[in-house]
Amino acid sequence: MHRRAVHRRSATYPPVQLTLVVLAASASACQAASAEYFADTDQPRADDASGAALHDTTIELPASLRGVPTGERAPTGAPVVVACGTCHNGEPGALPAQASEVAGPHTGLVVQHGGNTCGSCHDPNRRDRLRLADGQQLELTEAMQLCSQCHGTQRRDYDHGAHGGMAGHWDLARGPRTRNHCIHCHDPHVPAYPRVLPAAPPRDRFFGAGAGHE
Ligand code: HEC
Ligand code: HEC
Ligand code: HEC
Ligand code: HEC
Repeated sequence: MHRRAVHRRSATYPPVQLTLVVLAASASACQAASAEYFADTDQPRADDASGAALHDTTIELPASLRGVPTGERAPTGAPVVVACGTCHNGEPGALPAQASEVAGPHTGLVVQHGGNTCGSCHDPNRRDRLRLADGQQLELTEAMQLCSQCHGTQRRDYDHGAHGGMAGHWDLARGPRTRNHCIHCHDPHVPAYPRVLPAAPPRDRFFGAGAGHE
């Protein structure tokens, strides 16, 4: 099937593309050879043929999942946050019906996210926690599980590297990789527009340390 396609198209393909098509065809014919040319190392694999230790993939944690950002930075450069638990310490009770009802430091909150209510994501018994549809509580730091519950397609694309971007090494045998969190780009309350330019965190592909094509 693939080989026939190669023959049919070979007359119109420039030489470089033709080579790739031929490799693809032989790869489907021979799995062992394909690993060499098409190392699909998006996920760490137990059967890494080279036997090399695989480096880690780190998902950067947005500051807003550790508390309310103050706008200040610590000497290390890390954003300073006020932990949610500083003010919230288990206050069971109904969540507000609308964002405009929220007082205190969150005044001016806007929520436009499908038909979701506050309780679709927040735990009514703990202001500093999230929850899944089945009632399971989540720490704020586990927010990606919450997004994935309703956006399985994007999560699958993210896991395959097609959504959400990455920095570092595609081939984990060569070096580590860092990835953005959904919340780096999508405000959980108003997710429609990217929250920041996708290029900023966590490491600049072109100017940062370790830049280069691997
Ligand atoms: C400086 C204190 C402070 C911090 C820090 C803080 N909050 Fe709040 N929060 C409040 C106050 C005050 C209200 C309003 C309470 C009210 O209206 O009864 C509130 C309201 C809320 C509400 C709406 C529920 C309600 O009863 O109005 C949620 C949800 C919430 N906070 C979550 C968080 C999360 C998550 C964090 C951390 C990212 C956080 N808060 C950090 C003080 C704080
Ligand atoms: C789709 C899930 C989702 C919905 C719906 C949602 N929240 Fe949140 N909320 C989050 C997440 C995740 C965070 C913490 C991360 C962040 O703010 O970036 C948060 C943080 C907060 C905070 C603290 C910090 C901040 O962003 O101001 C408040 C207050 C809050 N939510 C109130 C509400 C209220 C009130 C509603 C309903 C009107 C609501 N949220 C609806 C997911 C949600
Ligand atoms: C309880 C289900 C639920 C959860 C949890 C949830 N979403 Fe959504 N999300 C929706 C729905 C419903 C829509 C609207 C879909 C539509 O209009 O087609 C939506 C829309 C979106 C959109 C598209 C917005 C637009 O208008 O183009 C983005 C981006 C998004 N969500 C990101 C997130 C992220 C990031 C999280 C985690 C913080 C999250 N969602 C959590 C249900 C959810
Ligand atoms: C590097 C930034 C970035 C990250 C990280 C990211 N997204 Fe997105 N996302 C985008 C952009 C930009 C769009 C709009 C363009 C598009 O549709 O591809 C988008 C679109 C979406 C949409 C709407 C799709 C549609 O067809 O309307 C959803 C839902 C979504 N993202 C969910 C997620 C979830 C869940 C995560 C985490 C697993 C995530 N995103 C991580 C940048 C990002």
